[in-house]
Amino acid sequence: MALKQGLFICFEGVEGSGKSTQSKLLYQYIKKNISKKVILTREPGGTKLSEKIRNFILNDKNNLDVVTEFLLIMAGRNEHVTKKINYYLKKKYIVICDRFFFSTLAYQHYLEKMNINFIYAIQKIIYPKLYPDITFLLDLNRLTSKIRINKRNKKRNKFDQLSNKKFNIIRKGFLKISKKYNKKIIKINSNQNISFIKKAVLNKTIEYINARS
Ligand code: TMP
Repeated sequence: MALKQGLFICFEGVEGSGKSTQSKLLYQYIKKNISKKVILTREPGGTKLSEKIRNFILNDKNNLDVVTEFLLIMAGRNEHVTKKINYYLKKKYIVICDRFFFSTLAYQHYLEKMNINFIYAIQKIIYPKLYPDITFLLDLNRLTSKIRINKRNKKRNKFDQLSNKKFNIIRKGFLKISKKYNKKIIKINSNQNISFIKKAVLNKTIEYINARS
């Protein structure tokens, strides 16, 4: 049965926080066990063009200026929001997104020190009415993050190679954001094991699904 309204769920966190794993697990669980329409997507990325932009941004050989990088992220987001996220939300899907706007605040504002009003201004032009219904912030310490990143097989990008100092700035940024948007962000201690986190995410998601069914 379709929901009365689409549901937009985002995952946020520092590198190695487990957001990609948890967003996949949630997607697979909903698909298998709950008869609701669901898609899994990510940022930067999510559409053909936005994935191209993603590859460009993550390639550290491009050595992008901070503002150029931000504008590319927002260009990719514009494609993603207008052509995919809004499309599926209108069709009453559950849209699960691995990273979204809070990453822009954490990385471009808290880490790169970009003016927050400039960031909000561009955001408001691109998608004035779209807010995640729930965001799961997976918070973890540097040590656990390093252990998780080292276990991965995939090629590392420039963000996986952050210094401890930068990691902590981003982490603290996310924690400040979670205080500011505390009604919409569920903070989960991601130093815990995968199945414990999965359960916490699932319980909260089911509450939202029931409220919209
Ligand atoms: P991922 O490897 O977790 O998918 O994310 C790729 C990187 O993109 C991540 O380390 C941080 C960066 N990023 C930003 O800097 N700003 C943003 O708005 C988003 C969505 C991601």
